[in-house]
Amino acid sequence: MTTLSIIKADTGGFVGHSAVHPDLLATAQEAVRRAVGDGLLLDAHVASCGDDVSLIMTHEHGADSERVHSFAWDTFQQTTEVAKRLGLYGAGQDLLSDAFSGNLKGMGPGYAELEFTERPSEPVICFLADKTEPGAWNLALYKMFADPFNTAGLVIDEKMHAGFRFEVYDLFEEKRITFDCPEELYDMLMFIGAPARYVVHAVQSRNLTEQAAATSTQRLSLIAGKYVGKDDPVMIVRCQSGLPAVGEVLEPFSFPYTVGGAMRGSHHAPLLPVSIPDAHTARFDGPPRVVALGFQVTDGRLVGPRDMFADPSFDSARQQANTAMDYLRRHGPFEPHRLPLEDLEYTTMRALEARIAQRWQPMPEVATSLAR
Ligand code: F6R
Ligand code: MG
Ligand code: MG
Repeated sequence: MTTLSIIKADTGGFVGHSAVHPDLLATAQEAVRRAVGDGLLLDAHVASCGDDVSLIMTHEHGADSERVHSFAWDTFQQTTEVAKRLGLYGAGQDLLSDAFSGNLKGMGPGYAELEFTERPSEPVICFLADKTEPGAWNLALYKMFADPFNTAGLVIDEKMHAGFRFEVYDLFEEKRITFDCPEELYDMLMFIGAPARYVVHAVQSRNLTEQAAATSTQRLSLIAGKYVGKDDPVMIVRCQSGLPAVGEVLEPFSFPYTVGGAMRGSHHAPLLPVSIPDAHTARFDGPPRVVALGFQVTDGRLVGPRDMFADPSFDSARQQANTAMDYLRRHGPFEPHRLPLEDLEYTTMRALEARIAQRWQPMPEVATSLAR
């Protein structure tokens, strides 16, 4: 079995929260080079989206491997040191704990991991997003694996016709459930349409009993109890031969749907599909972006990446995203640009509530013409 792990963290931004300094990437690249040399990893690629460093790694230690997680933790400690030396912004931001203990659960870094027996040819796409939250993948995964208007294979390919099983996490209650689609589509949509709370964690082919997709499913704010940065999720999707084709996996991003998480983790903004050189944020600390790195996994080797959104066929999505951003921005501090109160990451509201609590009075009883 091969395990593909993406482990990511924001260990310091350059400039502000916009991008990763090249020295951090070089430090991470050197670390993974050594880990491949030592035999811990089969192969690895270091990438970034916005202010997050992603370690894309293949190995044979399975998901939640102590050795692999501890390697990632050590690497992020090293990039944090570099970030501190350069005075980068929010150095070590996502490392919420002082010491590593077993695996990365609840420690800050996000991770998506997928174990599989390599097929004769194994095309995978690694998606990295910045300035949004794990539930940002819900709409895309629904379209890839459950919407025949997106994925022709659900109708046409015999191996896909039985549909897909979605595993959904409730991040508030720390519970999980599976939905078999297409039968349970409407039930599932009731939940995953609320992506701040319900997050698709994994998708499995019902016919092939193969896991097809994995996401990083956590919320830093829930771990830390206060705003400590956004979770900036990652996702792995296997493609072809009874799973959605590469083009079906990319297609959902041709619509720049709006996601939570831009500017101070507190705004909705469109998800902009970009090429790797454009994977850094600017306007209003956004718009939130997604990059897609395509690989062929061959005997554990990561052959690639191909920069999948570096393609003019996504130009109209980008244009639409900019138009949508103009439209939403004009709302300033009003919903629906600003997130609903219960989803606001910053705590001003609580402090404000406390400060003015005594000033609230009951509403006057107004005699309206209807009441009379
Ligand atoms: C959003 C994000 C940024 C920061 C914003 C304020 O996820 O990372 O929008 O929230 O730049 O940052 P601080 O509070 O660090 O000044
Ligand atoms: Mg940051
Ligand atoms: Mg980030």
